[in-house]
Formats: sequence, C-alpha cells, structure tokens
Amino acid sequence: MKAIVIEAFGGVEELQLKEVDHPVLKPNRMIVQMHATSVNPVDTKRRKGSFGGKLPMIVGNDVAGMVTEVGEDVTEFKVGDRVMANGAKTYAEYVSVNPERAVKLHDSVSYEEAAAIPLTGQTAYEAIITRGKVKEGDRVLVHAGSGGVGSLAIQLAKLKRAWVASTAGSKNQVMLTHLGADHPVNYETEVFEDVLDEMDLVFDTLGGSIQKKSIAVLRQGGRLLSVAEEPDQALADEQGIEASYFSMSPTKEALEHLNEWLSKRDIRPVITKVVPFTEKDVREAHALSETGHAGGKIIIAFQ
Ligand SMILES: NC(=O)c1ccc[n+]([C@@H]2O[C@H](COP(=O)([O-])OP(=O)(O)OC[C@H]3O[C@@H](n4cnc5c(N)ncnc54)[C@H](OP(=O)(O)O)[C@@H]3O)[C@@H](O)[C@H]2O)c1
Repeated sequence: MKAIVIEAFGGVEELQLKEVDHPVLKPNRMIVQMHATSVNPVDTKRRKGSFGGKLPMIVGNDVAGMVTEVGEDVTEFKVGDRVMANGAKTYAEYVSVNPERAVKLHDSVSYEEAAAIPLTGQTAYEAIITRGKVKEGDRVLVHAGSGGVGSLAIQLAKLKRAWVASTAGSKNQVMLTHLGADHPVNYETEVFEDVLDEMDLVFDTLGGSIQKKSIAVLRQGGRLLSVAEEPDQALADEQGIEASYFSMSPTKEALEHLNEWLSKRDIRPVITKVVPFTEKDVREAHALSETGHAGGKIIIAFQ
C-alpha cells in the first residue's frame, strides 16, 4: 500500500509517498481502507520533530473509511461498515483501528466531513463538555474560532446554550457568526480584553500573550482551559481564577456524541480545502496548515 512517510524530521519535503507494508490484523483491531483523513497542527509539529519518535514515521490521527478486515475479538463492526475513528498513522491507504476509538457513520455523512471531526471534535468536547461543564447561560470565550478545534468548540458551547464570544481575523468574521458566535471579535481591529469581561470559561488554543490577557476577562472563580501551553499558576492565583492545560484523551462516549450531532447536523465541520492523496498535495496542505491561518480543516481524500 502507499503511505506518506517521514524518514527524517524537517520541512515539507520530508513528506514522501512510499510503498509500505499493509498493516497486520490483530485480534482486537480492524483494518480500515482510508477514504479521507485531515491535517492537524500536531502532524506538522511531528514532521518537524517537536515530539521526537522513531523514524520512519507516518503521521495523521483522523480516520474516515471502510472496514475491510475485522479481528476475531471485534464484535461491534463488520466488513463494509463506514466508520470514523481516532487513529494513528492515517496518511496511508490502510490503517489498523481500535474499535474502542471508532463509530459507524450515518449514511448522510460524507467521509470528508467525518475526517474533520475525531481529533478536533474530541478536543473541543473535552474543553467544553467534559472539563468545561458548560451549561445554559455560561459566558464562554473560544479563541481562534475559525480553526479546526475552535469552530467545533463554538458549536458545542452553543448546543449547551452558552453565550459565546470568539476571536478570529477579518476574513473569518462571517464564519464566526455562521457558527453561532454571539460576539465575534476581530483580533485585527479589536482588543478582546477591552470588549469582553465576566467570562465563566476561556478556551485557549493559542497560548502566549493571548493566554495571559485572557485571565483578565474571566470573572472571579472563572476558568481558563488551554490546549496550547501550561498557564502561569501564580498569575491565575493572583487573579482568583482556575487555569489548566490538557492534552486531549479520546473517549468512545465523546465520539458517539459527536457522531450523533454530526448526523443530525447539530454540528458541521468547516472544511476549507480538500486535496488528493499525492506527495505534492500533502506537502502543500502542510505548508497551508503551518501558516496558522488555514481557516477550517484541510482534508486529504484518498479516492
Ligand atoms: N493539547 C491538545 O490535546 C491539542 C489538541 C488539538 C489541538 N491542539 C493545538 O491547538 C491549536 C489549534 O488547533 P487547530 O486544529 O484549531 O488549528 P488550526 O485549524 O490551524 O487553527 C488556526 C486558527 O487560528 C486562528 N488564529 C491565528 N492567530 C489568531 C489570533 N491571534 N487570535 C485568534 N485566532 C487566531 C486562525 O484564524 P485567522 O486566519 O482568522 O487568524 C486559524 O483559523 C494548535 O496549536 C494545536 O496544536 C492541542
């Protein structure tokens, strides 16, 4: 089978289309023929060697495809099922998938839509629902609402009937409104800490000075959740807020909820670009993602 393989950490030229071995079926796994995956910032960070790891390496976390083989211990899925899953090594034509990280897709959901959900959706779910425990009337600020994670976080917070503010650049203001943001903030022309206050929750996907300034818009006892970097605890204590970083941990329950909302169109991924599974296109997709302004998900389609 073909896969995009990284043999040395570095620039986009290290993404190379190679012939590799088909994954071996284990009793508690299934093999999925990939129809679509997506580019996440973690893929470009892995490519550059930010997390180390053994080479050669295949990156990618989002699975959308059809089950072609099922291990003897797997009872929930059968050959021919259309699935989405949180996976690994997904820049490849076939992927070994843990059924505990997979769900069956509704007929109305395309593979491209499904590929936009697992990593970003689990992250948004953990921030807004599991950890954030957002409820009706809460005031929530989602930074980078036009990004893969932020665009789903806005929609999940709206599903929970929160009042949602969100930041993005000029070209993405209309998108924020379409996603349901009650107060879109244009970071190119506005200073978010001047126009927002008394927030119950800030979801920080950016870190740095944006994270620090976010502390000032929270109410006493409010919370900052970051997926970008560890917050300054001394500053948080001083301001009387709770602040923490988390690294997303996927759960079957979250994926099932996301799948249900996706099938009912309660949530919609924002897809900015679909590229074919070629070396040139995947390299270009990484370069676009690395601008930090792709504005929605970049999908890699296999057929
Ligand atoms: N810890 C974890 O478990 C975890 C999980 C998932 C993601 N992450 C991290 O979370 C971050 C976001 O991920 P993603 O998938 O959403 O990335 P993404 O899709 O590439 O999103 C980037 C978005 O950031 C916006 N942006 C850039 N500068 C901004 C600013 N100053 N203010 C507001 N928005 C700004 C851009 O919008 P404009 O074009 O409008 O500027 C763009 O839409 C990444 O660093 C990723 O690695 C961490």
